[in-house]
Amino acid sequence: MRFLNGGLYARVPAARAALFICFALSAALGQAQSLAGIWTQPGKTLDNGEQQKWVLALKQNGSELTGTLKVLDYAVELKGTATGTHFELFAPWQPDRAYMTGDLVDGELHGMERGHRPVLAKAGTTADDIPTVSYIEPPALKAVTDNGLAKTPPMGWNSWNLFAGKIDDQTVRTMADAMVSSGMKDAGYVYVNIDDTWEGVRDANGNLQSNQKFPDMKALADYVHSKGLKLGIYSSPGPRTCAGYPASYGHEDQDARTFAGWGVDYLKYDWCSARNIYKNDALQPVYQKMGAALEATGRPMVYSLCEYGWGEVEKWGPAVGGNLWRTTGDIRDSWDSMMGNVEKQVPTAAYAGPGRWNDPDMLEIGNGHMTDDEYRTHMSLWALVASPLLAGNDIRTMTDATKAILLNKEVIAVDQDALGKQASPRKNGDLETWMKPLADGSVAVGVVNLGSSAAQATVKASDLGLSGKVKKARDLWAHSDVKFSNGAYAATVPSHGVLMLRVK
Ligand code: GLA
Repeated sequence: MRFLNGGLYARVPAARAALFICFALSAALGQAQSLAGIWTQPGKTLDNGEQQKWVLALKQNGSELTGTLKVLDYAVELKGTATGTHFELFAPWQPDRAYMTGDLVDGELHGMERGHRPVLAKAGTTADDIPTVSYIEPPALKAVTDNGLAKTPPMGWNSWNLFAGKIDDQTVRTMADAMVSSGMKDAGYVYVNIDDTWEGVRDANGNLQSNQKFPDMKALADYVHSKGLKLGIYSSPGPRTCAGYPASYGHEDQDARTFAGWGVDYLKYDWCSARNIYKNDALQPVYQKMGAALEATGRPMVYSLCEYGWGEVEKWGPAVGGNLWRTTGDIRDSWDSMMGNVEKQVPTAAYAGPGRWNDPDMLEIGNGHMTDDEYRTHMSLWALVASPLLAGNDIRTMTDATKAILLNKEVIAVDQDALGKQASPRKNGDLETWMKPLADGSVAVGVVNLGSSAAQATVKASDLGLSGKVKKARDLWAHSDVKFSNGAYAATVPSHGVLMLRVK
């Protein structure tokens, strides 16, 4: 114990003796030092100047602990046990795994939060308290009018996959320039979407401002528009976004008006901290609230729901005004993550159509951790499942290979097909075949090789539901016509590669 060294203890024998007796007594009685009190730990400083922190107010009754953990704008009730100086605290939603564990060491809490975040909390006072957010009842269900947007899956670019918190005005402007110069805009990519971490703080009237990384959001929107592109932005129905910035809880109408005033054309609305306020049965009315707020502004804004596919969003997304909705957790730049996300599309297939799209998350093409074969598969599958095509790479510095993938107009045409059907897979050993009927009566087909070595793929006209002779068949990656003979076409597909045809 630090207080046993030096100072009063070393110099005054009586004090030393008294301290020793206290210590020995409490040890002998097996008495725990009290964990009760207010504990606080600072977090990182956000780009809007706010200092993240948490405050834990603990009560102890014998070995029983109860307390409230407050983070900026939300609170979690914790319960647990104390064994001597050791403590374990559990959140109500996970009784089998400790939310926080640790020990009282020299008057500080040392431990781990959710198994991975170090805890080093100091004793605080009531002045450290964070005001509790009051509960706002979500509105009654009432359908939001269809905004008529996104008749084909939205196409554009989003900052999150590559830049995450390191996005700013200058990067967005240069990305908009590159959208034009690279040919992305001409290929149909028009939305330039700023994801999380643009948020500042609210002004005295409650208007949400952008932070110092985005000095003038209206001017940025004007710039993006001047390039013939559209601007997207990001918020959450909770008090805080996933990165901890202020979000739209209790300010839905006001924020929708702010976004409209800036000239925003697209909103991604991410559940995040809403999970600390609402139960999952509130997903629908809570998303409807922002849907109605966007509608009330009179400005057309694509509405992108991001709640990871919870509550069968594909069934009610359109009723709350949504144009697209995430159906999965976050994608990562890996084969398993990409394939995992697209395979989760299966139960949602029947619900896709013009104005209503399932979203297996943004593209990772060009971010460097998959092979070009894998990225071609990524692009093909996103097109076959009629997914939004939101590039997530640095389009200012794309390699020719990345360009050829993102700018493959024949594959993009499959994604953007007016019929809006979503392909489903059929598995045969290592080969997975996805088929998508198209508006002109032809069928797009992708055969993916899941195996670790090259394999022969055979596409049979009869399997495509096409009656009669194949009039035209085109390999959409080779950009050349191919010939069916005896009603079939066969080709070698590399490991994790794809054969993608359009057959009429
Ligand atoms: C969530 C979303 C991501 C991204 C981040 C931003 O994880 O699913 O797509 O928007 O939040 O914080």
